[in-house]
Amino acid sequence: MTMPTNRVFSGVQPTGNLHLGNYLGAIRHFVGLQKTHQCLYCVVDMHAITVWQDPKELAHNTREVAAAYIAAGINPKEHIIFNQSKVSAHAELAWVLNCVGRMGWLSRMTQFKEKAGKHKENASVGLFTYPVLMAADILIYRATHVPVGDDQKQHLELARDIAQKFNNDFSGNGSEGFFPAPEPLIMGAATRVMSLRDGSKKMSKSDPSAMSRITLTDTVDDIAKKIKKAKTDMEPIPETAEGLKERPEADNLVGIFAALSGQTKDDVLADFAGQGFGAFKPKLAELAIEKLSPITGEMARLMDDPAEIDRILADGAERASALAQPVLAEVKKIVGFV
Ligand code: AMP
Ligand code: TRP
Repeated sequence: MTMPTNRVFSGVQPTGNLHLGNYLGAIRHFVGLQKTHQCLYCVVDMHAITVWQDPKELAHNTREVAAAYIAAGINPKEHIIFNQSKVSAHAELAWVLNCVGRMGWLSRMTQFKEKAGKHKENASVGLFTYPVLMAADILIYRATHVPVGDDQKQHLELARDIAQKFNNDFSGNGSEGFFPAPEPLIMGAATRVMSLRDGSKKMSKSDPSAMSRITLTDTVDDIAKKIKKAKTDMEPIPETAEGLKERPEADNLVGIFAALSGQTKDDVLADFAGQGFGAFKPKLAELAIEKLSPITGEMARLMDDPAEIDRILADGAERASALAQPVLAEVKKIVGFV
C-alpha cells in the first residue's frame, strides 16, 4: 500500500454561523494547499452531533459548509469534498483508536472541559471521545498535514500520540510506521481570531451575540456595522507589535487586517501607526467586504441548488472511501480481526 507524503486532511463542523475565524484560521489555507498537496476537506457532521443539533438545520449547515469550501476556491474535481458520515471507515477506525487512546489523555483536553462546562455528567460520551474521532479522520487517509486554527493544536498532538501508540502496540503484527505522525499547519496572521465584543474570547459560532462575529453569510451592511461597533480602546495604532500587548481588541483588528490583506502585522502597523481606530475601521470594513462578499455571493448561488451540492458530496465520499478502505482493511489485519 502506498504511503502518501503530501496528503492534507481537514474538517469543519456543520454547526452554523461559519465566521471570519473559520475562514482566516482554516478555510483560506485549505485553498492555498491545493497547489502542492492532495487535499481532502471534510464536513464533520459526526463531530457536530456531539452536542445537540436540530436534524433539519444539520442538513442545511452541512450543505452550507460544502458551499463555503467551493465558494472559497476549493476544486471538488481535483480534490475531495465530502461529509464524514458518508464514509463509515471513520467510525470504524475511531472504535479501534478508542481502544488505543487513554482516558487520562482525553481528560486533559481543554476543549472538552470548556464545552462540557460545569455539567460534565451531562455531556455526551461522544463529546469526550471527539478527539479520537478526529484522529481517525486524519489517520484513515494517512494524512501528513492538517491545516487548522490555533484551538485545534492540542487535538493534533493527541492524534500524533494515538498514531504512535498504535504503531507501537501492534509492532509484533506489522504496525511499525503504519500511521505517519500528522503535522499541524497553523498559518498566517490570524490563527486565533477573537470576538469583536471581547478581546479575551475567541470568535465562535456559539457566542450568543451575533455582533461578536462576522459570518460568511453577512451582508455588506452587516459587516460594516459590526466592524464600526467592534470594541477598541482610545489609544492610536502603535508603531510596533510590542505596543499591541495588553490591547487584545486592537491586536485582533490589526491581525484581521493583516490576514485579509496578506500582510504581516508589522506591515499593517507601519501603514497605520499614529492613526486612531476611527480612521482604521472604515478601511478594515472596506477590505473585509472586498474579500468576503464574493464568497458570500457564490455561497448563496450554490445553496440555491442543493441537489448539485449533494451530488458533489456523494462523488467526494465515493473517492474518499476508495482511499480509506485499504487502510481500514490493513488496520483490521494488524489488530487481529479475521
Ligand atoms: P469549527 O468551527 O470548530 O469546526 O472549526 C473549523 C476550523 O476553524 C478549525 O480549523 C478551527 O481551528 C478554526 N477556527 C475556529 N474558530 C477560530 C477562530 N476564532 N480563529 C481562528 N481559527 C478558528
Ligand atoms: N475538531 C475540528 C474543529 O472543530 C474539526 C475536525 C474534525 C478536524 N476532524 C478533523 C480538523 C480532522 C482537522 C482534521 O475545528
